[in-house]
Amino acid sequence: MSIVYLNGEYLPMEEARISPMDRGFLFGEGIYEVIPSYDGKLVGFGPHIERMEQGMALISIQSGYGEADWRTLCETLIEQNGSGNLGIYLHVSRGADSRRYHAYPENIAPTVFAFAFEIPPAPVADKDKVKAYKVASTQDLRWKRCNIKSTALLGNVMHFQEGHAAGHNEIILYNAQGEMTEGSACNAYIVKDGVVITPPLDNQILPGITRLILLDILRKDGSIPVEERIVTMDEVRNADEVWLTSSSKEIAPVIELDGVPVADGKVGDVWVKAQALYTAGKYNY
Ligand code: PDD
Repeated sequence: MSIVYLNGEYLPMEEARISPMDRGFLFGEGIYEVIPSYDGKLVGFGPHIERMEQGMALISIQSGYGEADWRTLCETLIEQNGSGNLGIYLHVSRGADSRRYHAYPENIAPTVFAFAFEIPPAPVADKDKVKAYKVASTQDLRWKRCNIKSTALLGNVMHFQEGHAAGHNEIILYNAQGEMTEGSACNAYIVKDGVVITPPLDNQILPGITRLILLDILRKDGSIPVEERIVTMDEVRNADEVWLTSSSKEIAPVIELDGVPVADGKVGDVWVKAQALYTAGKYNY
């Protein structure tokens, strides 16, 4: 698990070096992706690359890489690192300047870094086998551009740590109006009376690719209704089921929130159905 990619070269992780003047290091100025891959098969490659390109366009970084370059890069990392359950991390930062000055410098080469890391096996739709999450909640104190998949993750890291230090698997965030936004590293959902409900896409949440794939699969299947709308924390506390999604966990059922069981404290039936549909359909994206 140790061959990484840096600016055109594949090399052992210990040998990868960047300048301390890289603006990714100084300012956290970069865009990243995590693409899951199981047995050599990538999930959501196209949408992941599209989101990364959109993020780079928003901050005027041109990587010079096209979709085919990204695909070759991902496939080479999978080949070089053994094709188990992998997350492929892609990262483009502005690059190294000769001084520290806030304005975007012109004509510097971006730093392109990528590596593969092990992720858990994809969940199977089985209540007894899935990892059920116990989470906390707290007010979302991150910035107002959470739609950008920025490498500057201090806000997310501090929130995750808050939950982690107290023994929780994740932390669900809510805004000043008491409306759920997302998790510190995942999107969030409730199920009420058989309907899957998740907050709409705006600047308060990341447009998750697992979210995009899941909602598309559910809508095409049609047996589980889906709503994208504001979800209050009162609704979360009274939900029949709570889920989290991200590329490395797919759909994670939450059975406890702030020390209180979600409904009966067991993994729900709608999760089983949704995870089965996700498992069946995910490679089509
Ligand atoms: N996290 N929201 C936030 C804040 C995230 O960091 C993530 C992903 C998601 C889910 O996005 P996706 O379904 O595209 O993975 C939502 C990644 C995996 C991470 O930072 O490691």
